Amino acid sequence: MRKDYRGIHDLDESWLSDGWEPLLRRWMHDAVAASVVEPNAMVLATVDEQGLPASRTVLCKGVTDAGIVFYTNYSSEKARHIAANPHVSATFAWPLIGRQVTLRGDVRKISAEQTARYWDTRPRGSQLGAWASQQSRPTGTREDLEQALDAVAQRFAAGPIPVPPDWGGYLLSPVSVEFWQGRANRMHNRIRTTRDAGGRWTTVRLQP
Ligand SMILES: Cc1cc2nc3c(=O)[nH]c(=O)nc-3n(C[C@H](O)[C@H](O)[C@H](O)COP(=O)(O)O)c2cc1C
Repeated sequence: MRKDYRGIHDLDESWLSDGWEPLLRRWMHDAVAASVVEPNAMVLATVDEQGLPASRTVLCKGVTDAGIVFYTNYSSEKARHIAANPHVSATFAWPLIGRQVTLRGDVRKISAEQTARYWDTRPRGSQLGAWASQQSRPTGTREDLEQALDAVAQRFAAGPIPVPPDWGGYLLSPVSVEFWQGRANRMHNRIRTTRDAGGRWTTVRLQP
């Protein structure tokens, strides 16, 4: 359970000279190349109406300099939290390659057009599942879920499946992005870049 991270390429501030986005893309690419399972999975933390944090895994489906995109149910628990408080944090953990990236910032819904473009790329089974599940609501038995799936499968028969009204993407626009690289003797590299109110990014090294 204790891994000693070693390597030759040491993360430093210069890796962020072009901003956080190219480096996040590169690290995701490295995670894919290293056969990390679900390399685009990130743990998304929100805060509920009482200030109690909640976290769960979602898949990152887009990275641009504007931020990162994920898709979910707009009536889910996380969506309810976001509606009350758009501040979130998202962490990609890649222990296999000794790396972690955490982004913090606000989320907002993306356009219906952007959601529709992504929706059209989803497998039919996932599309049906999104219609069948009222995400985060209590349900009875497993059988109830299967019946809900059968019902939507019949409803749409072999025709195209539209985007459910309560389903879509969010864009997390980071104000802070931290890159962590494991190193020997727990003297890890932590480089954090932070955006100020004027939109200027400042990069600092943190103690491990
Ligand atoms: C690897 C993995 C990927 C997941 N990807 C998503 C996703 O992209 N969108 C989503 O809504 N839920 C995804 N989930 C399920 C969520 O973790 C969560 O159970 C669900 O979104 C309900 O969360 P909530 O009740 O806090 O809103 C994923 C779970 C795992 C383990």
